[in-house]
Amino acid sequence: MTGPLVVLVGPMGVGKSTVGELLAERLGTGYRDTDADIVAAEGRTIADIFVDDGEDHFRALERAAVREAVTGHTGVLSLGGGAVLDPATRELLAGRPVVYLSMDVDEAVKRVGLNTARPLLAVNPRRQWRELMDARRSLYTEVARAVVATDGLFPEEVAEAVLDALELRLPAGDITPPPGQEKTV
Ligand code: S3P
Repeated sequence: MTGPLVVLVGPMGVGKSTVGELLAERLGTGYRDTDADIVAAEGRTIADIFVDDGEDHFRALERAAVREAVTGHTGVLSLGGGAVLDPATRELLAGRPVVYLSMDVDEAVKRVGLNTARPLLAVNPRRQWRELMDARRSLYTEVARAVVATDGLFPEEVAEAVLDALELRLPAGDITPPPGQEKTV
């Protein structure tokens, strides 16, 4: 099955973009993010799409963006936090190297904060976040091959845990040292 080397799912603010970019660097591959694809294609922010056309319209754009990225991108891919709500998307993710980055509510409030550009958390973020997670936790788990709890970890540590979870590390012997740094026995 061709497609991304890693697909990151999980709630907004968990660090999918930061960790995804680190992973792409570590793996020497490209990084892609479906939110950014939608913003680029539409020429407006996600908040504007929600306000102007509503969440259903955004979800339709998201479904198409996810399909395109999952079938066309071969590097590291992050999906928007709500992408897994779509049954066709969940089906598309079956059997792929999907990692669910999780965090608890205190960590979420700390990271996303009260002053958020994310439309779904604009009012009462703590309660909204709990409600979102009650609806989505099982969907993230369902599509994921592995779960990485990010609470209290730096992005570099999360990236390491993802590499371990997907067994994406090259054995040390397979890495060709740069010229001049070969081991002399
Ligand atoms: C959403 C998450 C956001 C973005 C939109 C809706 C969600 O993406 O797609 O605001 O429903 O959880 P991030 O998870 O990248 O912030």
